[in-house]
Amino acid sequence: MTAWTEADVPDQAGRVALVTGANSGLGFHVTRVLAGSGAQVILGCRDAPRATTAMEQIQATVPQASLELCVLDLADLDSVTRFSEEVSSRHARLDILVNNAGVMAVPTRHTTAQGHELQFGTNHLGHFALTARLFPLLREGDDARVVTVTSSLHRRGSIDFDDIDAELGYSRWRAYGNSKLANLLFAFELDRRLRATRNATISVAAHPGYAATELSTSGPGLDGRGVRVAAMEAVEQIFAQSAARGALPLLYAATASDVAGGDYYAPRGILEWRGSPAKARATRRARDEKAAARLWELSSRITGVSFDL
Ligand SMILES: NC(=O)c1ccc[n+]([C@@H]2O[C@H](COP(=O)([O-])OP(=O)(O)OC[C@H]3O[C@@H](n4cnc5c(N)ncnc54)[C@H](OP(=O)(O)O)[C@@H]3O)[C@@H](O)[C@H]2O)c1
Repeated sequence: MTAWTEADVPDQAGRVALVTGANSGLGFHVTRVLAGSGAQVILGCRDAPRATTAMEQIQATVPQASLELCVLDLADLDSVTRFSEEVSSRHARLDILVNNAGVMAVPTRHTTAQGHELQFGTNHLGHFALTARLFPLLREGDDARVVTVTSSLHRRGSIDFDDIDAELGYSRWRAYGNSKLANLLFAFELDRRLRATRNATISVAAHPGYAATELSTSGPGLDGRGVRVAAMEAVEQIFAQSAARGALPLLYAATASDVAGGDYYAPRGILEWRGSPAKARATRRARDEKAAARLWELSSRITGVSFDL
């Protein structure tokens, strides 16, 4: 079988996409390729100068790119609300939402503006609230897709409903794994609810593999750069694939014609580290419908946002 590449992304002319964390790593390449395929892309980024630089870089290689920046801090639910209102005032519909932004392995327990553990708050709660608030636009989309970016490290996660914000005990990798498990539980639960309400929108999940991005330095470096951050960078240089290749499973989930709701894509190589995008298997824990429903209700209560499906 020939490898699926950027060149296989179908024509996206007329489609409106939104990518969170679009200024860096995977989000940057997803934005670049979607824009190159004709989509109008909204960049949801927290740092306007960094996002502007990314837009200039994309426009340098894709002169016809239709890009638009809107400031979004997923670690602040008020920012999510403002962002969603702004996007809704500018756009009547959304065809692709890529819930990509994320932070990993923050050494000590940090919190969001509303006091939630930073990785759970940014990676899961922020995207939960964002997707709910943008759902009226997705409903107007043309066979709209929500792509939620998870990680094979979801295997390390288990949702502790008695200590959802890790106040009783914090471990950087467990917190990351929990947030990525929450991403998967959310993606699958959203799809079940969309099917039950006969929505045309679908929800899919994607894992990029091991890709060289800012992820291994931004979160781990939050308390200062040390030997551990340098070691992670060194390991990444040896084993990781490029960010552009890491973006392929996300692009496949967002655009390929044979994608169905509830699918999960990852690189097909060993350990899902690299390779062409292929359907992947999520753990039994990620398919736990009771846990997913419980997380959904909890997330709705915490964020104060509910889905109007
Ligand atoms: N790289 C990998 O090997 C790998 C493997 C598995 C899963 N993933 C997942 O892939 C996704 C993208 O990560 P990446 O590897 O591309 O890392 P990255 O280069 O660090 O990009 C992360 C993006 O998320 C943004 N972000 C972080 N916190 C945010 C917040 N509070 N509000 C808005 N945006 C925020 C960052 O913005 P700033 O530039 O402002 O910091 C950046 O644009 C993440 O969900 C990650 O868990 C990556």
